[in-house]
Amino acid sequence: MFLILTFFIFICIFMVILRLSLWRNKYSQLMPGKKPRFFDVLGDTKDFLIYDTSNKYFWQMNFVDVMRRRTVEFGKQQLFCLWLTFLPIVCIVRYRAVKELMEKKIIEKNFFYKWMELTVGSGLITSEVSKWKPRRKLLTPCFHSNILRGYFPIFNEYSQKFVDFLQAETKKEFTYIETPVTLLTLDIICETMFGVRTEESGSDSSQLVKSIRWINEMHVLRLFKPYIWPDFLFKLSKDGKETIQHAQKIHDFTRNIIQQKKSRYLKDQKHHDSEKHKALLDLLLEKHMETGELSEEDIREEVDTFASAGHETVSISIVWALYLIGLHSEVQMKIHEELDTVFGEDTRPVTEKDLNDLQYLDCVLKVN
Ligand code: HEM
Repeated sequence: MFLILTFFIFICIFMVILRLSLWRNKYSQLMPGKKPRFFDVLGDTKDFLIYDTSNKYFWQMNFVDVMRRRTVEFGKQQLFCLWLTFLPIVCIVRYRAVKELMEKKIIEKNFFYKWMELTVGSGLITSEVSKWKPRRKLLTPCFHSNILRGYFPIFNEYSQKFVDFLQAETKKEFTYIETPVTLLTLDIICETMFGVRTEESGSDSSQLVKSIRWINEMHVLRLFKPYIWPDFLFKLSKDGKETIQHAQKIHDFTRNIIQQKKSRYLKDQKHHDSEKHKALLDLLLEKHMETGELSEEDIREEVDTFASAGHETVSISIVWALYLIGLHSEVQMKIHEELDTVFGEDTRPVTEKDLNDLQYLDCVLKVN
């Protein structure tokens, strides 16, 4: 009996692999990329499953290296495909492929996005189209140019503080700027989007940064470990348990912000009602308090989404821009000259007109 059962299970597994291999074989012929051998279950996953325990960042470096080599190999194509076991990951190389994709208006997300729900629930980035559309319509006015203009004093205040910090750091032989830049962008997101100053909130922003970093790394790492793709298996793993703890820390941070804002909202409702263009959290709270359209958990999902999506992206862009500008002294000199032309010796706050005048800097940041 046992033998028959084992044989039956073996045949079932074999049939599944055969079907998946036939499917992969057919589609891998249609897209540029390495063609996995017929019964090679892992496909391109093998290239990413290399470990060197002596180097903490080995897998990240290996990931970038594999992607770089593939991009060089298929650089003349519009896109190429990586096969993570039987799952095709389409990597876009040239802009025409992006254009074509946008024109097809494909807005459904793949199942990897479900992993993010552990942290950000079903906020704008992870929600399905039926939930995303009305939420997106609701929140788009928060990015009206008049609202963004109103943030100039905040940008200026934090930037000035950051310049002071950097000036002090220049006395040192070496400074690691990634963490202070990330804390800066988080402070700015919290004040502009949520109307809360992190230093006054009593929440630990360094912990939030650490937790978001951990979770982002875990998402990428999980991609290359198909055995922890199902959520229930991931949650049982050591990494999964740690991820849940980090997600909890993020939720504590954002719940604290929401509570503070809620009590302020209740105290100062008149002033709130008179505002024409509302900041993100004000608008979300209004939909919670006035119409009951959103629950507190709905608000948390969006606050988690904006806190996560809004600060690390910007800080990574800033850190890379500074690094690349540092590598190209001729670019650095031109930026310096342009800044001198616009500001001279003046240390006044930056205005919208100044930003429009800094055309060379604008190009450098866009290329970066
Ligand atoms: C250099 C800075 C940024 C980069 C490179 C960037 C990149 C991206 C990308 C690639 C997506 C699409 C994600 C996907 O659907 O898979 C996205 C979506 C999103 N980003 Fe950013 N982002 C940046 C800054 C920001 C900031 C400052 C905020 C918040 C104030 C923000 C909030 C969001 C939100 C809410 C979405 C989901 C939008 C939707 O689906 O409707 N991002 N971002």
